[in-house]
Amino acid sequence: MQTEIEKLKNRLRSARSLVILTGAGVSAESGVPTFRGADGLWRSHNPQELATPGAFEADPFLVWEWYDWRRSIISKIQPNPAHYAIAELEKRYLEFTLITQNVDGLHAVAGSKKVIELHGSIWTVRCVECGNSSENRDVPIKILPRCPCGGLLRPAVVWFGEPLPEEALFRAFEASSNAAVMLVVGTSGVVQPAASLALRARDAGAFVAEINPEATPLSSIVDLRLPCKAGELMPTLL
Ligand code: APR
Repeated sequence: MQTEIEKLKNRLRSARSLVILTGAGVSAESGVPTFRGADGLWRSHNPQELATPGAFEADPFLVWEWYDWRRSIISKIQPNPAHYAIAELEKRYLEFTLITQNVDGLHAVAGSKKVIELHGSIWTVRCVECGNSSENRDVPIKILPRCPCGGLLRPAVVWFGEPLPEEALFRAFEASSNAAVMLVVGTSGVVQPAASLALRARDAGAFVAEINPEATPLSSIVDLRLPCKAGELMPTLL
């Protein structure tokens, strides 16, 4: 393992650009439950019940109770060493992009500046009537939250079956195509576009390393796999 870490460090030392792609696993050591890992959130809920436009249409109370519960968990936790290490790595590269699938906002709390939030943010709400988005950090949030226009507010996160924000997606693929090194940290790689971004980077010649205690569908396409916890491994890369 040591040699693997040294190999990655050498790549990072000589890299002119770095892209980091993160999933729920980077927040696991902060206490944010992942979706699919051993204690994954989806184990206790069916994603189709909660994170879809249809579910919200059918029962906005249930969906908002679930998001209010997740917001209350996230509001009490701190970034972990992985978030801080990623924020530090950003300072060391002129060309750096952090692409996250997480909606918890912990990368920004840890100091990351150049963050592409592919799935939106749990702290942003959007009116289903007028489309206006705004930040809302109320914990608990008054259910059902209303827009000044009277419309119902929804979490401004990407639900299953919904398109990702186009501009964010474009920038993510752009960064992945120009990366010298890509670190894929804490994602199961089963939800697009995580897998495609890693493939794009690799096909464009990047050295791609996966940091995840569990193997994933990405494990067979990356150049290096470190079966470690992000909070333990990421600080050693500094
Ligand atoms: N360090 C690194 N990886 C970890 C850690 C850790 N401490 N703990 C768990 N993991 C790994 C798990 O092994 C798993 O592969 O993190 C991954 C988390 O996978 P998911 O729970 O599927 O989260 P993610 O890949 O981000 O899901 C993608 O799916 O449900 C949607 O929109 C949601 O953004 C989410 C998307």
